[in-house]
Amino acid sequence: MKILITGSNGQVGSSLVKLLNQMPEIDFLAVDRERLDITDCKAVNKLVNEFQPNAIINAAAYTAVDKAEKEVELSNSINRDGPKFLALAANRVGATILHISTDYVFAGDKDGEYIETDDVAPQGAYGQSKLEGELAVAVSCPRHIIMRTAWVFCETGNNFVKTMLRLAQTRDELSVVADQFGGPTYAGDIANALIAMVQHIEQGKQAKWGVYHFSGMPYASWFDFATAIFQAAEQHQVLTKQPKLSAIPTSAYPTPAKRPANSRLNCSKIEKQFAIQPSDWRVALNNIQAYK
Ligand SMILES: NC(=O)c1ccc[n+]([C@@H]2O[C@H](COP(=O)([O-])OP(=O)(O)OC[C@H]3O[C@@H](n4cnc5c(N)ncnc54)[C@H](OP(=O)(O)O)[C@@H]3O)[C@@H](O)[C@H]2O)c1
Repeated sequence: MKILITGSNGQVGSSLVKLLNQMPEIDFLAVDRERLDITDCKAVNKLVNEFQPNAIINAAAYTAVDKAEKEVELSNSINRDGPKFLALAANRVGATILHISTDYVFAGDKDGEYIETDDVAPQGAYGQSKLEGELAVAVSCPRHIIMRTAWVFCETGNNFVKTMLRLAQTRDELSVVADQFGGPTYAGDIANALIAMVQHIEQGKQAKWGVYHFSGMPYASWFDFATAIFQAAEQHQVLTKQPKLSAIPTSAYPTPAKRPANSRLNCSKIEKQFAIQPSDWRVALNNIQAYK
C-alpha cells in the first residue's frame, strides 16, 4: 500500500509521518510545501503520476483563520484549488483521497451536536475556503473521504496548548473564552484515525465515501481546555507558577474572523462505518512536557 501525504510539516502532517515511521508495512511519501506546493497543478500531477499512490492524504492547508479575512485569494487557492488538484490527480490514478476539513463550515448556532448532513454556513473566509475545498474534492474524485475535525493540537506547531503555556511564562492572569464549545483533538489521534480508514478501505471492506466527523471528547469550552492544560502542567511540573484563569464571553475577545459558538461534532458516523471512536484529548495532555 502506498500513501502520499501533503503538508508534512503541519500538525496533522507531522503526526502522520511519526505514525507511519512505525509502520514499515506501509510505503509512504510525505512532502512538505517546498517539495510539493499543492496549488501547483502541474507539480501535483507529476508527483502523483510518478508515485502512483493508493491513497492521498491532504494535510496541507491555509490555517491562519484571522489572516484569511485579508488573504481571501491565498486561502482559497490553498484550501479549495489545491485539494481539487489533488483529488483530480487521485481520480486519474484510481487512488482514494482523504481530505481534512473543519467545524468552521458551520455557523455554530445549532442546539446540540452537528451531524455530517447539517446545513453549512461558514462565518468567515477561512471556513468558506474550507467548505469550497470539500465541495471541490467531492466532485473531483468519487473515492473521497472528508474528515471534519476541530480544535487541533499537538506537541509542535501553533496551537492553543502551546499558546497557553507560553502566555503563562509572562502573565499572572489569563482571560479565556468560556462560551464556545467543541472537542479538542490531538493531531496524533487524527493521524491514527486517517490511517485506520485507509487500511479499512484498502482491505476492501465496504467504505461509504463522503463526509465524516472526528473530534476529541469530552466536549469543552476554551476555558475548560485551559483549566485542564494548567492542571496537567502542574501535575507534570512543567510550570513553576500557575496563572489565575478568568472565564470571559466571546464578546470580550473580539477577533477579525467570527468563531462558531458551538463546534460540537457528532462522531457516531465514523464509529459506525469504520469502528473509529472519538479520542479522549485529556490523555494527550499527559505528554505535556513535550509541548514546551
Ligand atoms: N488547527 C486546527 O485547529 C484545525 C481545526 C479544524 C480543522 N483543521 C484542519 O486540519 C488540517 C490540518 O491542520 P493543521 O493544524 O495540521 O495545520 P498546520 O499545522 O497549519 O499545517 C498545515 C501545513 O500545510 C502547509 N501548506 C500551506 N500551504 C501549502 C501549499 N500551498 N502546499 C503545500 N503545503 C502547504 C503548511 O506549510 P507552511 O508551514 O510552510 O505554511 C503547513 O505545514 C487542515 O485541513 C485544517 O484546515 C485544523
